Amino acid sequence: MTRKLFIKTYGCQMNVYDSERMAEALGAQGYVTTERAEEADMILLNTCHIREKAAEKVYSELGRLKPLKAANPELRIGIAGCVAQAEGEEIMRRAPVVDLVVGPQTYHRLPAMEAAMRAGARPVDTDFPEEDKFEHLPKSRASGPRARRGPTAFLTVQEGCDKFCAFCVVPYTRGAEVSRPATRLLAEARDLVKRGVREITLLGQNVNAYHGEGPDGAEWSLARLIRALAEIDGLERIRYTTSHPNDMGDDLIAAHGQVAKLMPYLHLPVQSGSDRVLKAMNRKHTAEQYLRQIEKLRAARPDLLLSGDFIVGFPGETEADFEATLDLVRAVGYGQAYSFKYSARPGTPAAERAPVPAAVADDRLQLLQALLAEQQRAAQEAMVGREVGVLFEKPGRMEGQMVGKSDHLHAVHVVAEGLQPGDLRRVRITASASHSLAGALI
Ligand code: 5AD
Ligand code: SF4
Repeated sequence: MTRKLFIKTYGCQMNVYDSERMAEALGAQGYVTTERAEEADMILLNTCHIREKAAEKVYSELGRLKPLKAANPELRIGIAGCVAQAEGEEIMRRAPVVDLVVGPQTYHRLPAMEAAMRAGARPVDTDFPEEDKFEHLPKSRASGPRARRGPTAFLTVQEGCDKFCAFCVVPYTRGAEVSRPATRLLAEARDLVKRGVREITLLGQNVNAYHGEGPDGAEWSLARLIRALAEIDGLERIRYTTSHPNDMGDDLIAAHGQVAKLMPYLHLPVQSGSDRVLKAMNRKHTAEQYLRQIEKLRAARPDLLLSGDFIVGFPGETEADFEATLDLVRAVGYGQAYSFKYSARPGTPAAERAPVPAAVADDRLQLLQALLAEQQRAAQEAMVGREVGVLFEKPGRMEGQMVGKSDHLHAVHVVAEGLQPGDLRRVRITASASHSLAGALI
């Protein structure tokens, strides 16, 4: 019997990846995915808890789903992801429309939970089990080992975080840092390549802390894993995200200069440029140490494009602290970056501290975003006239146009005959628009 599954994914790339795995797991139970919530027999909300009233957003979304359940008595609703982890049983109490709650570490138990749910139970599972949640996920018929994939894919190599930054819920919702064995990852990567994938982005909340078991029984670093992945024929590009400055080892920095398949783009969040704030955030490094890392990285790979994350209005942040953040941004010169207003997350140490007035934080965010937007524009302009690799992914909006990503992760539009998704071509950049580049095949 075929049932329809609708998954709504919030938050990070890890959730995007997890949603794909959940679709595969439920595919083995006879579910096919749909883009339309109205025709679904099961709706899964894969939630995010990182910022701003996450739980409240989920409860209001559930309110909107209520009529669907009234219209279709077969419909079941599940909550997955970090809000599921943080709220657990509380969701069942507050939202009678919910039939299932599953935390990010127990997706391999989803098929059994689904069966229990169809039998009338309201299962909740927010354990942190020992076993690898991906080992047990069955492959569905529709997306089994032979099914073709698009040219790019994510591969989760590590999950969780032991850093305990004072503002962050991740160590609580995703648990302790766990790395997957390298042998398993190499096998999955080879399988992805067989299915048409040419670019793999290695995922982890703290990806550069990767320390999985290698085929030789020794502990492998991320750099070692990347070097082994680079040996796979047909895999053309490797990226990884997200990294912590303190785990940026010399071997990983060296890999940026030596492994041609490792793309010249790095997301390396610093959060603040003030040593006082960095200390209060429990980041365990100074602005100067971060700048030294950037220097070393650029020495290894001069055309490296940098991305980052910033938080403004962290409790105790003064005008001088904020100026130090602007100074750091000017010193680095980011290709692009994300910036957020601090939002207190219940249960984290910073949530107990006196907040910066909202209006002050708003002003700072505006200033920072203006500076980052200017740097992004400049970085794009600097690409004009240069030759880059572009991996094409899909047709563009204009007739005859294809869109892909450059080595530096810029979206690039090209008009050319016969280009196919999955083609990797050399392109001369001819123009820069607000969020993309235009180019011509060489
Ligand atoms: N408030 C604001 N931003 C946050 N981030 C994480 N927690 C918070 C918070 N409580 C941001 C950080 C992190 C990114 C994923 O989200 O910048 O790097
Ligand atoms: Fe959160 Fe990243 Fe800090 Fe870990 S390193 S606690 S995931 S901000």
